[in-house]
Amino acid sequence: MISIFIDGKEIQCHEGKNLLWLALANHIYIPNLCAIKERAEAYGACRLCYVEVEGEDRPVTACTTTVREGMVVNTKGERALRLARTAFELTLSNHPVDCAHCLKSGSCELQKIARHLGVKLSTKKLKKFLREQPIDETSPVFIYEPNKCVLCGRCVWYCQEKIKTGAIGFAYRGFHRWVTTFNDEPVGLSECGNRIELAEICPVGAFVAKVKQDNKSRINETGG
Ligand code: SF4
Ligand code: FES
Repeated sequence: MISIFIDGKEIQCHEGKNLLWLALANHIYIPNLCAIKERAEAYGACRLCYVEVEGEDRPVTACTTTVREGMVVNTKGERALRLARTAFELTLSNHPVDCAHCLKSGSCELQKIARHLGVKLSTKKLKKFLREQPIDETSPVFIYEPNKCVLCGRCVWYCQEKIKTGAIGFAYRGFHRWVTTFNDEPVGLSECGNRIELAEICPVGAFVAKVKQDNKSRINETGG
């Protein structure tokens, strides 16, 4: 066993643990979008999980850091938070913010991260570059709204590594990058088309469960 300190709290753990998952398991929140515990290698794409480690010149991403004996970690350092805020604002510049009408509202990771970082979801710091893809309702179990995707890669990992279909993947680059199927066929017709897990693994309102939508419309109809 080794001892490390996160925000002054001493934590004992086995050597070789991942810093992000160790912090989260000990109720110390570090913002993250692209991390998946089961994934062998961290994806490291969202750049939200910056922390400061004593002895390091610059902040490091917690999801790519392995803990070591005596490590002293600060999740609240201003340099780390500044980097995380910049990455978050970049993410928001590609995301249509309409929480009042979004089915993930309340469980959306963006809302949680915004609160944690003290950033307004409606920030206008960066120019918006929004995709204009149609909503795909062809799946019997979920709705796919590509314009809300934050490119975290979780759904792609799930389809490729968990159920080994590779039915969905990233296409194009830069602001045109999005998650789609082979030949851009409707996602409901793909091998992942009936996987409700996609709505569970997606941290934002890009994949949402249809059941949830049905409940919401019933609530609206009855004024509940
Ligand atoms: S659709 Fe959801 S899970 Fe998939 S990459 Fe986009 S945000 Fe991540
Ligand atoms: S969680 Fe670390 S880079 Fe996304």
